[in-house]
Amino acid sequence: MASTIVIKDVSKSFGKKAVLNNINLTVDSGQIYGLIGPSGSGKTTLVKLIVGMDRPSQGHIHVLDTPIPNLNLLQKIGYMAQADALYTDLTGEENLAFFASLFKLNKKDQKERIAYAAELVNLTPHLKKKVQDYSGGMKRRLSLAVALIQDPQVLILDEPTVGIDPELRQSIWAEIHRLKETGKTILVTTHVMDEAEKCDRLAMVRDGEILTSGTPAELKEHYRITSLEEVFLKAGGKKE
Ligand SMILES: Nc1ncnc2c1ncn2[C@@H]1O[C@H](COP(=O)(O)OP(=O)(O)O)[C@@H](O)[C@H]1O
Ligand SMILES: [Mg+2]
Repeated sequence: MASTIVIKDVSKSFGKKAVLNNINLTVDSGQIYGLIGPSGSGKTTLVKLIVGMDRPSQGHIHVLDTPIPNLNLLQKIGYMAQADALYTDLTGEENLAFFASLFKLNKKDQKERIAYAAELVNLTPHLKKKVQDYSGGMKRRLSLAVALIQDPQVLILDEPTVGIDPELRQSIWAEIHRLKETGKTILVTTHVMDEAEKCDRLAMVRDGEILTSGTPAELKEHYRITSLEEVFLKAGGKKE
């Protein structure tokens, strides 16, 4: 299987503060890869290195066999940031049009992509509303649509379900699975343990280190327990 994201010996410090310590991780193409860890464990820092918004202090990252950072790759990587970066005094449609305009799309393709992305996240009926009148969940869905606007091969979703009620959480996860079916490779971060089960593979992070990684079934078998929450506690205890 081809590797879409390869992270090799990556460390990151801010000043004297070490935030990531020797991270090694490979995401195969077509996978949903979950990065699970408590708040402050370094998930967002790692994600920003992958999308090229910041540089590792040490180590290397490749996405689609290309060293990061690389401007041309932005076309191929959809990024949903942890905080919604939307223009609240514009409508949903205007937001999508703005982000679509950042990519090389002709007018017709732009329109099609906007319609497609909005439909995917069930926002079509709300496109003419200003984003300031959107609920938290609608804003998260619009951010997901923004990440999809250029039809990227790789999706990096930083806590896509944070602050979203359970029903909508289900619908976002259904969406993530549907995107996988269309052949996309997806890296998703979460601090919610029950979302770990929905991933093909997981890495559990704490204090900037990967405690353990594998499929949910492998992890449970390895630690001889039935819940991933317990895996996290056990793996953390052993510092594996
Ligand atoms: N620009 C920065 N400067 C200094 N410290 C930072 C910076 N960005 C993140 N950190 C620190 O790095 C640690 C990991 O943060 P983060 O990657 O946001 O974790 P997570 O996304 O898992 O909650 C935290 O202690 C945070 O305060
Ligand atoms: Mg974060």
